[in-house]
Amino acid sequence: MSATAVSVRRGSRFGSKHWLFLVFGALIVVVWFTRDHLLLDPHSWLRQRYAPIWWLVMLHGVPGATALFLGIFQFSSRLRQRYAKVHRVMGRIYVGCVAVAAPAAIVVAINLPIPTLLPAAIIQATGWVLATGTALYCIRSGRIQQHREWMMRGYPFAMVFVFVRAIDAIPAVAQMGLLGLEASVWGCIAVAGLLPSFLIEWQKLAAVRGGVRQMAAPKA
Ligand code: HEM
Repeated sequence: MSATAVSVRRGSRFGSKHWLFLVFGALIVVVWFTRDHLLLDPHSWLRQRYAPIWWLVMLHGVPGATALFLGIFQFSSRLRQRYAKVHRVMGRIYVGCVAVAAPAAIVVAINLPIPTLLPAAIIQATGWVLATGTALYCIRSGRIQQHREWMMRGYPFAMVFVFVRAIDAIPAVAQMGLLGLEASVWGCIAVAGLLPSFLIEWQKLAAVRGGVRQMAAPKA
């Protein structure tokens, strides 16, 4: 069997990545129904909150949502292997969306009355831009594996948007008010910054261990 056939078969298995995105998709639905559908209602508290900076929130939210949506498909091995051109075009749109949504997020945070979360927004936005920029540099210079790894490091900063709002939809957390929100924002940003590198390195350790085992196995 050729290497491509092996990797296509591997990509078609329903693995941990697919479970993660399934749970993530479910959380997006939760966030939409518990909070973000209110953006469509001009009389809702959410629309009132953003009313003075509505165009700024749109400038941030629309490319942010586009990047969040496209990012899911960028991690599909099947799409990458079978439709490389689609992956490239979507990747360019993703990078453009990050370049607009992340700086706009900082301006949104400056203009909203929760000053304690401004540093969090700056760190989250900077992490997203730096990791995505590095992923872009890697693919431009032909480093495919590193490109994949830096995309894995960048996308979780966007996922924070969903996880924070999903955690905040838990009644016990919502009752804590600002304290609960701050704890979930900082907690999610810390996990987004650390977990991808941990997983990437463990993938490598597991691969090396598999190789060592094979070398150590007695030849028949
Ligand atoms: C670096 C990443 C991001 C940062 C720093 C950031 C920051 C922020 C901030 C500070 C707000 C105002 C929250 C408040 O009400 O106090 C906000 C709102 C919003 N963001 Fe982001 N965001 C990021 C990523 C995203 C992504 C990936 C999406 C994609 C869906 C998104 C969509 C929105 C939307 C729709 C709103 C307004 C509705 C809401 O607050 O639920 N953001 N963001």
